[in-house]
Amino acid sequence: MKDLQANYNLLGDMAPSATLIISAKAKEMKAQGIDVCSMSAGEPDFDTPQAIKDACIQAINEGKVRYLASSGLPELKEEIVKKFAANGIKTNKENIVIATGAKFAIFEAIMSLCGKDDEVILFSPYWLSYPEIIKASGAKAVEVKTTLENNYEPKKADLEKAITDKTKLIIVNSPNNPTGAVYSEQTLKMIAEIAISRNIMVLSDEIYEKLVYNGKKHLSIASLNDQIAAQTITVNGFSKAYAMTGWRLGYLTAPLWLAKRISALQSHATSNATSFVQYAGVSALQGKADKDVTAMVTAFAQRQQLICNLLDEIKGLKYAKPQGAFYVLCDISQSGLNADDFAKQLLEQQKLAVIPCTAFGAPECIRLSYACSEANIKEAIKRLKTFMEQK
Ligand SMILES: Cc1ncc(COP(=O)(O)O)c(C=O)c1O
Repeated sequence: MKDLQANYNLLGDMAPSATLIISAKAKEMKAQGIDVCSMSAGEPDFDTPQAIKDACIQAINEGKVRYLASSGLPELKEEIVKKFAANGIKTNKENIVIATGAKFAIFEAIMSLCGKDDEVILFSPYWLSYPEIIKASGAKAVEVKTTLENNYEPKKADLEKAITDKTKLIIVNSPNNPTGAVYSEQTLKMIAEIAISRNIMVLSDEIYEKLVYNGKKHLSIASLNDQIAAQTITVNGFSKAYAMTGWRLGYLTAPLWLAKRISALQSHATSNATSFVQYAGVSALQGKADKDVTAMVTAFAQRQQLICNLLDEIKGLKYAKPQGAFYVLCDISQSGLNADDFAKQLLEQQKLAVIPCTAFGAPECIRLSYACSEANIKEAIKRLKTFMEQK
C-alpha cells in the first residue's frame, strides 16, 4: 500500500489547511464539554443578512436551479462590473469569472498563469493557502518578508531583490490576512511600477476590502492606471463582506486573454457557481443588505479597539495595530516558544484556541481573530495574559 502511494505526487503534496485543524480541535474539545475559548475563527460571527437569504429562497422557488454559463450569471456579472467601477477598475462582463468562493478564483488564476519552474512572489506573513496553491501549479513561492516595524508593508528594495527572470506573478493581499495591514497608495504604486517595468502579472486579493478601520481607505491596485489594470487579476467575494462564508461565492476580473483561460478551466472543473447563490449575490451587490454590513463593520471596529487596548496590558507581546480584516498578528518570540508549541500549550493549559502562523510564513507569531463577541475577546485575552505571565 505504501509503495503504491509513493508512486503518486498529486498536486505537489499539499498540506491540509492549518487553520482548519486548530478550529476542528477546539470544536472537538468543546463537544467534550471543555470550556474552550476561541480566537481562531476565519469568518464573521454574524448571520448572513436576511435580504440576501430571501433573494436566494426566492430564486429557488422561482426554479432558478439549472446550469448557468460556467463563468457566471449575466445579471451578477453586471453588478460586479459596477462594483469594480466603484473601485476605479474599468472592466466588462467578458472579463469577469464568478467562482465557488474567492479561494477557487485564486486557485484558477494561479493555475492559469503558472507552472513548473515559474516563481511567484508572496509577501510574508501571507494567507496560508497561497503557497499550497502555488505548489499545486508546479511553481515555486518566493517570500519577501514584511516586518512589524514597517507595519507589514513591503519595501521596494526587498521586492526588487526577489525578482528573477522566472517571476510570473506577485500576490498582493490588502487588507491582509493575517497582519491586518492595509497597504498605502505609495506601497501599491511601488508594486505596480515594478510589475510594469518587469512585465509581471499581479494578483490582488481584496476579499477583506469592506473591513477597514481608523479612517483607512481600501485602494485597488488595478485602479492606479491602465497599464497595471492590464496586468492585474482582482479577486473579491461575498464571504467576509456579507457574512456568507458557507455560500461559496467569489469572483475575479482579469485581462480578456486570461479571463478566457480561467473560464475554460472552470468549465471543466466546477462549471458554474451554484445558480441560486448567484441570485443572492445580485441582491448583495445591489445594496439590499448595506445596513447590516455597516453594522457589522462598526462592531468589528469597536472590537479591534477593545482587543488592542487589552493586548497593550500584556508584557512580552508585540503587534502592529491592524487597520483591516479581523485579525491581530502577535509576535510571541519573547515567550521563548515557537508558534506551534505556543498555540498547543495555550490550548492545553488555558483552553484558548489561537492560530499558530508557521504556515503563514511567521513561525514567531500567533493570529488572534476578533470575529467573536466582546465577552469572548475579554475572556480570551485574560487567558492569554495568564499564560504569558507564567512564561
Ligand atoms: C486572504 C484570503 N483570501 C481568500 C479567502 C477565501 O475566501 P472565500 O471564502 O471567498 O473562498 C480567505 C479566507 O479566509 C482569505 O483569508
